[in-house]
Amino acid sequence: MDLKALRINGKRLQQSLEEMAKIGATPAGGVQRLTLTDEDKRARDLFVQWLKELDLEITIDEMGNIFGKRAGKNNALPPVMSGSHIDSQPKGGRFDGILGVMGTLEALRTLHENDVQTERPIVIVDWTNEEGSRFAPAMVSSGVWAGALDRDYAYGLTDINGFKFGEELERIGYKGPAPAKKHPLHAYYEYHIEQGPMLERQGKTIGAPKGILCLHWYDIYLTGEANQVGPTPMEGRHDALCAAAEMILKVNQLPDKMGGNMVATVGEIQNYPNSRNIIPDRIHFTVDIRSWDDEHAIKAWEDVKTDFNAIARRRGCPIKIEETWRVEHSPFDEKLVQRVLKTAENLGYSALHMVSGAGHDASYMNQIAPTAMIFVPSIGGRSHVEVEETTWEDCEAGGNVLLHCLLQSANEQ
Ligand code: GLV
Ligand code: MN
Ligand code: MN
Repeated sequence: MDLKALRINGKRLQQSLEEMAKIGATPAGGVQRLTLTDEDKRARDLFVQWLKELDLEITIDEMGNIFGKRAGKNNALPPVMSGSHIDSQPKGGRFDGILGVMGTLEALRTLHENDVQTERPIVIVDWTNEEGSRFAPAMVSSGVWAGALDRDYAYGLTDINGFKFGEELERIGYKGPAPAKKHPLHAYYEYHIEQGPMLERQGKTIGAPKGILCLHWYDIYLTGEANQVGPTPMEGRHDALCAAAEMILKVNQLPDKMGGNMVATVGEIQNYPNSRNIIPDRIHFTVDIRSWDDEHAIKAWEDVKTDFNAIARRRGCPIKIEETWRVEHSPFDEKLVQRVLKTAENLGYSALHMVSGAGHDASYMNQIAPTAMIFVPSIGGRSHVEVEETTWEDCEAGGNVLLHCLLQSANEQ
């Protein structure tokens, strides 16, 4: 058959996404499918059922990563891998992650029903805990698979309620027997929504990121002195929440202060005992710093850390700082990035060479295999929110670009 004419079934991709969106659906139209919860398990079960219908060789590894391998003509050749993640943010959207998994599934269904055989095998993957919002850090299981993170470190991660990653993985029945260990790959693709406004602003359909910013995560713990808010004079207080408030503004001002390419965010805070008439004595908050320039991000961190220590001293609130996680910026494989751009053009879609501000498993995969991503527009640039939207037409366009990138890579000798 004429492979050039091959197209995915956009309607079927839409149906798969709609079916998945029912699992963990939130009233405002998003999904809450936190990693290793019952919702994650139900979505995995459905995914595995769909993989079985394609006669793929299914492997579940000790990190709960799910792989489905479609045989090639020459199975001794390193395969091409493609996928993303099924887990979501709390009150997240219906496209983040799952589009890349369902998009790859749709590409494989298209190959299956057209009896297309590729030279190399193609492997579809769902990576466990991409989001990192239940168990920090993010992208932990692609990190273990790629050899950048330690498996037992991952098993020991705890969520806010004290549940352990390893135990939750076992509880939902996805601690598989296969080692989470890299093997040679010919290429890795990840299809994803942009999660930002650039494609929409520039009126383009397909984004080809040249890479991903570095991601640096920190955890800050402050200790104050609790007391009755009425009788306790303002002077001499050790209010841990006020110390945190000053620090949070320093983080917000950091990109302006440092200049260059950078974003910095405090997204999570716990305040104890969290009562309106007790002076707060215990705080935990997070810091997220991202840049294309790793050194610049580290300099910024050193700068703000100095401010944190000064604020803690002045307010008499001892501080504990954890440098939780750093993943370097990931410049993707130039040949594959160009392939994404060229494929989009050949299919008649407008395309943009850009940068990914969002983190993806592609960061770790880029450390071990030629990697590229395919982006489609996020309406209003909104993501990690329930109103996250991408048009079905754009989902289909990205699916076609993925299909043809997979075909090219999988047919290379
Ligand atoms: C991953 O979702 C990120 O934090 O960018
Ligand atoms: Mn994602
Ligand atoms: Mn996300």
